[in-house]
Amino acid sequence: MTDAERFEQLRTNCLACTRCSLRQGCQNVVFGTGPVPADILFIGEGPGEQEDLSGEPFVGPAGRLLNDYLCAVGIERESVYIANIVKCRPPHNRDPLPEEQEACIPWLRAQTKLVHPKIIVCLGRIAAMRIIRQDFRITREHGQWFEKGAFSITATFHPSALLRNPQNRSAAYEDFILIAERRAALYGRQRD
Ligand code: URA
Repeated sequence: MTDAERFEQLRTNCLACTRCSLRQGCQNVVFGTGPVPADILFIGEGPGEQEDLSGEPFVGPAGRLLNDYLCAVGIERESVYIANIVKCRPPHNRDPLPEEQEACIPWLRAQTKLVHPKIIVCLGRIAAMRIIRQDFRITREHGQWFEKGAFSITATFHPSALLRNPQNRSAAYEDFILIAERRAALYGRQRD
């Protein structure tokens, strides 16, 4: 089996997942989008309303702001992989529960192996607490880099949080500049 076939198999299995009760309350499993392999894996929290309806991550208002940041630092959205900690929308956009995260995280781990990024970017507190450290403080530690195994990992503010608190937008922009620079350093060139 090629990696592309493995990835398709993974998607098919994930779309049929019933490991937690979130699936009963949502329209679509939002598996993730992007090329495989990819230089950068962005990890959000979980699908919102627009994502649930479309089956694609970050397509609502938060997604449009994410697109603006990517564009501002010269990263093409189509060149990165985008996924979430949980693949099914939590009711009323509440934080995913620890047991829901636990049930879902094997999908993300399997995706990460096949996407094979050198860079992982956690979008927001929930992803950072799950991927970097349980007691991660986004306000204090955003933009810092953590080396874990083969990955350079960082976290920045969640775009939804930036829509609510625009005062953090310039700090987030600085984080995205660092992400673009890290990609240029690790992959040898700045992509279009
Ligand atoms: N917020 C997230 O964390 N993920 C999405 O896909 C959309 C909004």
